Amino acid sequence: MSSLSEHRPGVRRELELTPTKGTSMATSPWWQGAVLYQLYVRSWRDSNGDGYGDINGITQQLDHLSWLGIDGLWLSPTMPSPDADWGYDVSDYTGVHPELGTLGDLDALIAEAGRRGIRVLLDLVPNHTSSAHPWFIDAASGRDAAHRDYYVWADPVPGGGPPTNWLDATGEPAWQWHPATGQYYLHNFLPAQPDLNWWQPAVHAEFRQILEFWFDRGVAGFRIDVAHGLYKDAELRDNPPLAPTSSDSDRLAGRFGQRPVYSANRPETHGVYRDWRKIAESYSPPRLLLGETWTGDLSSLASYYGDDDELQLSFNFPVVFARFPAELPDLVDETLAALPTGARPVWTGSNHDVGRFPSRWCHGDPARIRLALLILLTLPGTTVLYYGDEIGMTDVAVPAELQRDPMTQAGSPQGQRDRARTPMRWNGAPGAGFTGPTVTPWLPIGPAAVNVADQRGDPDSVLSLCRRLVDLRHGELGAGVAGYRRLASPPGVWSYTAGPLLVTANLAATPAAMPDQGAEILLRTGPAAAGLGPWEGVVARGG
Ligand code: NOJ
Repeated sequence: MSSLSEHRPGVRRELELTPTKGTSMATSPWWQGAVLYQLYVRSWRDSNGDGYGDINGITQQLDHLSWLGIDGLWLSPTMPSPDADWGYDVSDYTGVHPELGTLGDLDALIAEAGRRGIRVLLDLVPNHTSSAHPWFIDAASGRDAAHRDYYVWADPVPGGGPPTNWLDATGEPAWQWHPATGQYYLHNFLPAQPDLNWWQPAVHAEFRQILEFWFDRGVAGFRIDVAHGLYKDAELRDNPPLAPTSSDSDRLAGRFGQRPVYSANRPETHGVYRDWRKIAESYSPPRLLLGETWTGDLSSLASYYGDDDELQLSFNFPVVFARFPAELPDLVDETLAALPTGARPVWTGSNHDVGRFPSRWCHGDPARIRLALLILLTLPGTTVLYYGDEIGMTDVAVPAELQRDPMTQAGSPQGQRDRARTPMRWNGAPGAGFTGPTVTPWLPIGPAAVNVADQRGDPDSVLSLCRRLVDLRHGELGAGVAGYRRLASPPGVWSYTAGPLLVTANLAATPAAMPDQGAEILLRTGPAAAGLGPWEGVVARGG
């Protein structure tokens, strides 16, 4: 695997993203050029006053998403789960978590969203199940159990000890000793999340049925959790050490001093997506497979698109972890150069694991938050906003006694994850419009001053800017994917064309001259002035 830094050229290249050959605006899949919205269900809107957001809360609040111009939702896990990892430990792949609602509620949400032209994606967790899943309960009942081989079991090494040096997401050994059957089982996350054994054909058959179950109900696709995981090395070889380096991209290459060469990113995983893609395309409209492809290597990211026969979209974590905004121009070039012809990039800055971009990229600075939204929403491809991005919500410092995420409670390389899972703030009243005024929300609400109601009435707010950008994206870039071309620009300024739009971004804290574009300015993130303000972005038409 080459590192991200090996992709970084000394000389800037002029790159062009052109629409897929043979696709017209009329035939482009709906997600191309679209704005998706990741919605953390427990934190969006509580319809029944228990302090947790739920599915009916989403249905009741769909107006916000229509008003904003959202094309599709990705719902954080909705399936039954003991919640050792808040739904990423599934105990039933064809149900709905009772705390979030019922299958009927989800059907109603899909129907109501569909009436507004909003598609619904679910989160699918195929790398591991909950240890409370009936498959694992059976597997753990004996070595001859029918589901034993659904999971990765192995004997101790000679002399005792775990089968490999692999570490889980908390830095602890990824093998749990199971005294009742005298073997270890693998868990790349918590011990309550045993890894499935994708060498077992029956696991493939189970997941084909799961895909079809949801696609038949009108689910528009899946965000695939740990999409780079699934297969593990058949020989169970030890992972090599992470080479000492100062490069930031190595945050993604490995953790806890190891490169996950044998415990993830195995070549056999691609066959799963070729299989699922056929299923996705047997539906009309085709269903979307959007991978959580956790890799710092853009060529590895590109490989998950296959030959346009694997995932249609893959999350770009090198961009998520980029130093903003300085590293973005080259990373956009490098991403477009790395992706196979016709493959479309995904742009995102926040999620429920890595935190919110208004904090990580922008340090809460309103000018940078506005610039980040402008960039995310003008780059051709698919943009995924995280709930709260539209009002510039920053991470919330959740006191230790109120933290709810077991995986990161003891500290983690990603930081404590509750900080980006706090309730959506709909207004400044007690409960923030998320829950009732006297209800204790499952996580603290955070600063009331940043909320939807106040920003909706203010034409200069982050929310108003975000809505105008989404509108501009739909109106000017149209359906499908507009072309991208990076333009020559003075140091510290990034200029590009996106379809008919000309975007100019000041990447510095000091003012810059406005390049002479001879173009009609459609939108700017700062006040009208002769030049570009600090961190200001401008969108113009033509030129
Ligand atoms: C990635 C998910 O986004 C994260 O929240 C979860 O803990 C792990 N996968 C394990 O499922």
